[in-house]
Parts: sequence; C-alpha cells; structure tokens
Amino acid sequence: MIGPRFEGKVALITGAGQGIGRQIAIDLAEEGAKVIVCDIKAEYADEVVKEIRDKNGKASSEICDVSDRAQIDELVSRVIASYGRLDIVVNNAGILIPATIEETTDKLIDDTININLKAVLWLIRAVTPVMKKAKYGKIINIASITGKNGDNTSTFVYGATKGAVMSITRSVARQLGPHGVTCNAVAPHAIMTKMMTYWDDTKKRSISDKIPVRRLGTPSDVSRAVLFLAADESSFINGEVVNINGGYYMD
Ligand SMILES: NC(=O)c1ccc[n+]([C@@H]2O[C@H](COP(=O)([O-])OP(=O)(O)OC[C@H]3O[C@@H](n4cnc5c(N)ncnc54)[C@H](O)[C@@H]3O)[C@@H](O)[C@H]2O)c1
Repeated sequence: MIGPRFEGKVALITGAGQGIGRQIAIDLAEEGAKVIVCDIKAEYADEVVKEIRDKNGKASSEICDVSDRAQIDELVSRVIASYGRLDIVVNNAGILIPATIEETTDKLIDDTININLKAVLWLIRAVTPVMKKAKYGKIINIASITGKNGDNTSTFVYGATKGAVMSITRSVARQLGPHGVTCNAVAPHAIMTKMMTYWDDTKKRSISDKIPVRRLGTPSDVSRAVLFLAADESSFINGEVVNINGGYYMD
C-alpha cells in the first residue's frame, strides 16, 4: 500500500465520543482521514479530538443530537462549509435500553426509533446530494445481530431499528451505487463498551462460552471491518452486512 489509506478523505462518525464510534474515529485519523467526531456529549467528543490531535491526527468535534433532523441538516451544512467535501459517513450513534416487552414505554419506542433509525435516514438523505455530486462516497451503518436474530434482554424495539438499518443499507446500495457511492453495514455482537455494562460477569462468561472464538468483542474488532468497508479496496462490496461476533451467529 502506498501511503495511508484515507489521506485527503473527510469522514463523519456519529456517536464518536465513546465506544465503537470513538475507535473508528481514532483509527480513521491514524490512517490519514480528517475526522469529524460527532456526539451529543461535547465533553466526550472533545476528548476524542484531543486524543487524535495529540497523535498528530486531524479531527474536529461537532455536537449534534442525531434524533433531531434539523440538527443533522445543519451539521452536514457546517461540514461542507468547513471541509468542502464528505467522503465517508459512519452511522454509529445508537441507544440500547434493557427492558422487557411490558416495560417498553412509548417514550422508549420513540427515542430508540429516532436515534437508531430515523437519524440514519436523515443523515443519508442529507449527504446524498454531496456524494452524488462528487460521484464518490462510502456509507457504513452500524446494525446489530439483533436486527437478524431478535432481542433477548434489550427492549424489543432495538432489534427492529437494526433490522430496518440493514434494509436501508441495501436500498441505499441499490440507489446510490450507480453514482459511485457504496453503502454497507456491520452487525456486531457482544462488543464491550459502556452500552453493554448491563451485562454482569456471569452473563459475559455465559456469552463468551458460546462464542466459537471464546472471547467477547472489542471496539477494534468492529473498527477494523468498518475501515475495510470505508476503503477503496472494498469498492465491489455494496449492500453487504458483515457479522462481527466471533462465529456466535452465522448466516
Ligand atoms: N456494543 C455492542 O455490543 C454493540 C452490538 C451491536 C451493535 N452496536 C451498535 O454500535 C453502535 C455504537 O455502540 P457502542 O456500544 O459504542 O455504544 P456506547 O453507548 O458506548 O456509545 C454510543 C455513543 O453514541 C452517543 N449518542 C447517543 N445518543 C446520541 C444522539 N442522540 N446523538 C448523537 N450521539 C448520541 C453517545 O453519547 C455515545 O458516545 C450503536 O449503534 C449500537 O447499537 C453495539
């Protein structure tokens, strides 16, 4: 490979203040991308930007609540005004609230759908004219095993949003492929981030015992696949959903 894979590219990652999104932002910056670290929490986003800049990477933070369409539209306008381009978009922001079916309130349904699903539609819609004009774009959506296999301990609307994200991925792949834009997704499971702190040690052990590679996942396990899907080396992969689960679920 000649030079870093993402030199000159501008990448926007939502929910990049922590967990999987943070790792994707750090890894893209390490490989030369100018990274926009978007999160609802300013302190987390600023910390990630500092971490990247301390290693001579290029990053800026954007505070945005992705459940608010107006904020997404303004975010994309600001990014284009500052950078003049947007090559890579990672729809990563998401919430997972543990709840039984009976405990799932209307608010929980609305919040989960707004953040995990509508935000993905809104951000893709907002960047489509930019990517079409550039005849280039890489969109990567973070889905989940629950989108295929259903929820077990989390609220049953969570997996519904992730199943929808997979369908969106395929629609976008079909509709934007002719314009030089690919759209793919990853479906992780058991990645140890703050989102998964509701699993206690017994639960973690019982899950890792069922995973063929006999360990839980890390944000880097997801980030490595996302970087491949964001790179030109994967340009003939479009509309794909990559399982990242150590072989726990195969399809
Ligand atoms: N951790 C796992 O095992 C796992 C498995 C499958 C899928 N996922 C998906 O991966 C993605 C990242 O999850 P994670 O485990 O890193 O979670 P996390 O909770 O560690 O991080 C999520 C980030 O999103 C941000 N965020 C939340 N609501 C937001 C909003 N409205 N606007 C902007 N930012 C917002 C949070 O501040 C946080 O920084 C999510 O879409 C999640 O559903 C995670």
